[in-house]
Amino acid sequence: MRIGFFDSGIGGLSVLHEALRRLPREDYLYYADDANVPYGNKSREEIRCCVFEAVDFLAGMDIKALVVACNTATSVAIQDIRLKYEFPIIGMEPAVKPAVKSVDGKRVLVFATPMTLCESKFIGLLNQVDIHNKVDYLPLQELVTFAEAYQFDRVVILSYLKERLKDYDLNRYGAVVLGCTHFPFFKNHIREIFPKGTAIIDGNKGTVQNLKNMLASMGRIHEGNGHVEYYRSGKRVMDDYTMERYLLLLRKIEDGNGSITDRPG
Ligand code: DGL
Repeated sequence: MRIGFFDSGIGGLSVLHEALRRLPREDYLYYADDANVPYGNKSREEIRCCVFEAVDFLAGMDIKALVVACNTATSVAIQDIRLKYEFPIIGMEPAVKPAVKSVDGKRVLVFATPMTLCESKFIGLLNQVDIHNKVDYLPLQELVTFAEAYQFDRVVILSYLKERLKDYDLNRYGAVVLGCTHFPFFKNHIREIFPKGTAIIDGNKGTVQNLKNMLASMGRIHEGNGHVEYYRSGKRVMDDYTMERYLLLLRKIEDGNGSITDRPG
């Protein structure tokens, strides 16, 4: 049986990339909710509806586990979908815990969607791990829009990031947390803005480790050969153009806009 991956759009490909690397002998089904992307500035109710529709579809495809490769969908709906479906469900969480541990006197800056940052799941996480008040956060919803438009132009992205960060003293930060699965595609741009040595951390590695542990505990590991079938809001992707674009994004992660914890400098 296959493992389902779900995101509002292409962001979850950054997590799928990590899964293909660490669990190459599984088969995958990737669902991008293109008809409804972006999620991050929708209401809770709208996001819940979208998530249930997508997961209903994946449930009908007989998956052995689901990765909600979307921080926003996880924040809003993970508890509800876990109640409804029998298969195990792994969610995403901004990697604040490892970031706080790594900074040694400096601060942590979390980037995510507005919905992720205002949800009780994130506030609860901060209450639990940010006991010394070291964490700041900033919504960067437009990065989702840029990614969906395949807008990765250096000048455009740097000027957006500089504008959003103009009131921040970047030297104060020892780590940046990418709390949205679309953001690893901009890792090189973010790296360029922050001082050398700033760690850029995402939750992809931890999520795939959770998936691996869970499959091992079920005795359901290594059941395939790395085949991926892609769906866009319920329709199977068959055209070469979209397939090419997805492969390009997977390669982009491979080329250093990576999905693993990274400490340059
Ligand atoms: N990739 C998603 C996340 O991790 C959602 C982005 C969006 O659709 O706004 O939050």
